[in-house]
Amino acid sequence: MVGSVGNGCSVVLEEKRAELLPEELDHHQHEGVANGKLVANGVTNGGKKMVLGRNMHTMCFAVKEPESDDEFTGEREAFMASVLAKYRKTLVERTNHHLGYPYNMDFDYEALSQLQYFCINNLGDPFIESNYGVHSRQFEVGVLDWFARLWELEKHEYWGYITNCGTEGNLHGILVGRETFPEGILYASTESHYSVFKAARMYRMQCVKVDTLISGEIDCRDFQAKLLQNKDKPAILNVNIGTTVKGAVDDLDLLIQILEESGFKDRFYIHCDGALFGLMMPFVKRAPKVTFKKPIGSVSVSGHKFVGCPMPCGVQITRLSHINAFSSNVEYLASRDATIMGSRNGHAPLFLWYTLNTKGYRGFQKQVQKCLRNAHYLKDRLIAAGISAMLNQLSSTVVFERPKDDEFVRRWQLACEGNIAHVVVMPSVSIEKLDEFVDELVEKRSNWYHELMNPSPCIAADIGQDKCLCALHMK
Ligand SMILES: Cc1ncc(COP(=O)(O)O)c(C=O)c1O
Repeated sequence: MVGSVGNGCSVVLEEKRAELLPEELDHHQHEGVANGKLVANGVTNGGKKMVLGRNMHTMCFAVKEPESDDEFTGEREAFMASVLAKYRKTLVERTNHHLGYPYNMDFDYEALSQLQYFCINNLGDPFIESNYGVHSRQFEVGVLDWFARLWELEKHEYWGYITNCGTEGNLHGILVGRETFPEGILYASTESHYSVFKAARMYRMQCVKVDTLISGEIDCRDFQAKLLQNKDKPAILNVNIGTTVKGAVDDLDLLIQILEESGFKDRFYIHCDGALFGLMMPFVKRAPKVTFKKPIGSVSVSGHKFVGCPMPCGVQITRLSHINAFSSNVEYLASRDATIMGSRNGHAPLFLWYTLNTKGYRGFQKQVQKCLRNAHYLKDRLIAAGISAMLNQLSSTVVFERPKDDEFVRRWQLACEGNIAHVVVMPSVSIEKLDEFVDELVEKRSNWYHELMNPSPCIAADIGQDKCLCALHMK
């Protein structure tokens, strides 16, 4: 059969594999088929085996040179159509059973399908038209203006661009900090996203890791202590507006106060990593404000998370004065080089523009309220079922004990770290889906644990003794 997947297995298996999609193959391999190939680099994490370096070649659709008569027989076209149709089915199923990553899958961009025929590229600076005319800068700047207004920076005072993802926003924000203070030390809590530490490595910056509280929030006391050990060097601080695992929000106001009181006035740069919560927090009543009225240098957010774009993208906003100081002109582009990437996805601004226009401030506010409500519902249901769970005050990320069965974790695409897992409640996560998830978890769990012989795990170290429902802490 043309385009069979897999290599080196028996003919029967080979044929069976050809009918399967990667996801299904994955499942079969865990049942024992070619199992040895999967665990190329097993490492342990919190007592669990983590599988790195999966041999994806066993699960791919090989690209094969077309046969000379393919055009005539139409066989190749029919084959590709069938692969794509099956793949689509998998996507539908996987989308329906997704809870672990902060992606809002509730969208309809049918109106934009007419634009997929164009090679839209916003290479260069959003505010300076380059020689390449097939761009969407007019939409990009409209989106950036919207975000600058949200975070209270005047049009003539801000600069920004639509990035490829939240990671690129962090790489950019930290670069701007480093260019502003070349001798500066990067401070970030241990629960910061790994891209922050990647930035430190890439830019060869000295990086000081700061402890966190049980909530996942940066420990301000530890921050101050570490700051005072390095009084001679400016501080570049990554502030989490929602940590990846626990959804904790660092106390921006207290951090600024500490910096100023510790002798760092005018010698610090703050990058706010708002990948998920950067666009939720402005709509949470009584939440502290992320605003450029405070002495922050940059804010970044992912566009494919709460905002709900179907492709990875993000928004980065900083102060124009910082950019003027470090960017350079590129004759070839007839533009300025101040972005991390060269070519930039010109479709992403269209999706962002479309969704901002559709929802507006009020639409986002409603969606945030729904997410927070549903997150509380999930937490309460878990606790009622005797499952340890935690939900930070400003967050829709529900943290709970890591399910024992990896199959269950994969089925619901849960993100796990050590002994905990989380569900990020996004607008696409309905009460019905949460009920299905909890019902299934409760049923499975009754087989995993037995009160005396095999008790449920203690996760007090991750979520606190008061929230842990293990046998020891329930007493
Ligand atoms: C706090 C935080 N920062 C940055 C990122 C990276 O965002 P992206 O996946 O858009 O690169 C994430 C992703 O989950 C995140 O949670």
